[in-house]
Amino acid sequence: MKCLVVESPGRMAIVDRPRPDPAPGEVRVRIERAGICGSDLHIFHGTNPFVDYPRIIGHEFYGRIDAVGSGVRASIGTRVVVDPVISCGRCYPCTVGRPNVCEYLQVIGVHRDGGFSEFACIPAANAYEVPAEIPDNRAPLVEPYSIAANITDHTGVDATDIALVYGAGPIGLTVIQVLKHVYGVGRLIVSDMIDARLDLALASGADRVINGGRQSLPTVLAVEGIRPTLIIDAACHPSILAEAIDIASPAARIGIMGFSSDPTSVVQQKVTAKELAIHASRLNGRKFAKVIDWFARGLVAPETLLTHHFPLSEFAVAFDTFENDPAGCCKVQFEIA
Ligand code: NAI
Ligand code: MN
Repeated sequence: MKCLVVESPGRMAIVDRPRPDPAPGEVRVRIERAGICGSDLHIFHGTNPFVDYPRIIGHEFYGRIDAVGSGVRASIGTRVVVDPVISCGRCYPCTVGRPNVCEYLQVIGVHRDGGFSEFACIPAANAYEVPAEIPDNRAPLVEPYSIAANITDHTGVDATDIALVYGAGPIGLTVIQVLKHVYGVGRLIVSDMIDARLDLALASGADRVINGGRQSLPTVLAVEGIRPTLIIDAACHPSILAEAIDIASPAARIGIMGFSSDPTSVVQQKVTAKELAIHASRLNGRKFAKVIDWFARGLVAPETLLTHHFPLSEFAVAFDTFENDPAGCCKVQFEIA
């Protein structure tokens, strides 16, 4: 089978490998579509601390079951999207319903081989059937929307919230659509530095956008008397949390998702005085069924994010476009079969 392997940081190539056979409890997926995520870029650049090389990357993928391991009851040909989170089911986080931070967490495409490949073998429990009303090219986007499902479950969302989202990249846009179109948040403000991304934010349900590169966001909010009750940081610069604490309403919730290793300076008094709740969110804890239901009911618009598609053989231009054209490019998808 042909697959895209990051052999070591900075070195990526299409490689021919033997097609794997499913182990007991696994299914083999013949992959049709797979999306590039910022974390794939981190693996390529050697800035993901969790990965071993060489690795077949890709954790947002869709295809059809084409073989099953012993003990698995699944029909060949079933359309499936793959939840990349593999957990042990026995450690403390697993037993309290937080499998996405399992002590022995394995992420498909990071800790084990992923979906930029013609085939992948994965635990049967991680394959979610895709209903007929979801087209092939939207199915891989279930994974990025599961990030939004996870963080909004942590923060809670109320129709009366005044919400602020930092960042209108792929993740910010999923959050924006979920806040507006799933939870019907009353007022939704979005900040980014790239106008084209703010246009996507408006198309995704933002009521108001602010270009934080041209205007000071805290000043604009202060002048207009806006005090967000729910803030989600989908830009993840380490400076944002301190700003969010300053501009938040008392009793607000703040959701964070960043992986920066740079320290962030937070003043305890400001958090306590407003009794703010700060929720961290990582990957997704079994949110795929929920997101598939949103897709099937047409509540969210994954097609808004999808700007480019390439065959796997054009991986170099696909990654270059994804990395270097944030104004013209949002989600890039490989058409594998
Ligand atoms: P992206 O880089 O495509 O988008 C980030 C956006 O934020 C860009 O449009 C950028 O212009 C904007 N931005 C940067 N600094 C800003 C600021 N100070 N104020 C307002 N906007 C600003 O990244 P993507 O893929 O959308 O992911 C966003 C972040 O979420 C990344 O840091 C990523 O590591 C993190 N992430 C976390 C996950 C988790 O499970 N915790 C899962 C997926 C992504
Ligand atoms: Mn992803």
